Amino acid sequence: MIRPMIAANWKMYKTIPEAVALAQRLRDAFAEPEDRDIVVAPPFTALGSVSAILKGSPVRLSAQNMHWEAQGAYTGEISAAMLIDAGCEFVILGHSERRTLFGETGGMVNRKMRAAIQAGLKPIFCIGETLEQRQSGATFAVLEEQIKEGLNNIDSGDIRRVTFAYEPVWAIGTGETATPGQAQEAHRFIRERLTSLYGEDIASPAVIMYGGSVNPGNAGSLMEQPDINGALVGGASLEFESFAGIIRF
Ligand code: PGA
Repeated sequence: MIRPMIAANWKMYKTIPEAVALAQRLRDAFAEPEDRDIVVAPPFTALGSVSAILKGSPVRLSAQNMHWEAQGAYTGEISAAMLIDAGCEFVILGHSERRTLFGETGGMVNRKMRAAIQAGLKPIFCIGETLEQRQSGATFAVLEEQIKEGLNNIDSGDIRRVTFAYEPVWAIGTGETATPGQAQEAHRFIRERLTSLYGEDIASPAVIMYGGSVNPGNAGSLMEQPDINGALVGGASLEFESFAGIIRF
């Protein structure tokens, strides 16, 4: 049985006081070590304050993005070392909003993946197809390409630090969730690709979260699927009740 991960992606929401208030409620409600991992990814500005709130709590901290260089003249960017300094253990990389709205290519995602691992962060590596790609039957080819590019030059020692997230772009923030069957099929494919790249020992225990309009009502049926090991949650992670409902799936 793979220990599931439930991760909150707060995107560009929440001031520092709002982020602290929600983190406090999560810390208090989930104070005992659970049989699942809980992660929150606040915006950069709230990382330090949320990290202080979560000290000693099993709720863990992630950033939503980073730059691949260690430091330099990169106005507006944040390095892996800065995220570690702010208390992060994880970083979300390759999110479809980064790829589609901010022009991140597979090559850029790969540089970030390698820099994050080298610095000691654990990447949450996101992949997923658009609606047009699904409708034209290209889903598996797209996933295969994103895996190939994103994991380029990441060896079997380092891949153990990576958590995966399958997020069909057409299901993100749309209220339209992949059916458990559609999600399972994609997750199975991802695990098979990991098996052929890294072998059974690494692929079988790999955590592959599903993301895309997860809510307390659909979390259970998604998580019942054999290859779905958690959820990366956007909209429904912004309120305590709905995120707690998903954690308790
Ligand atoms: P959503 O976002 O839950 O609002 O669809 C998921 C994500 O983008 O990670």
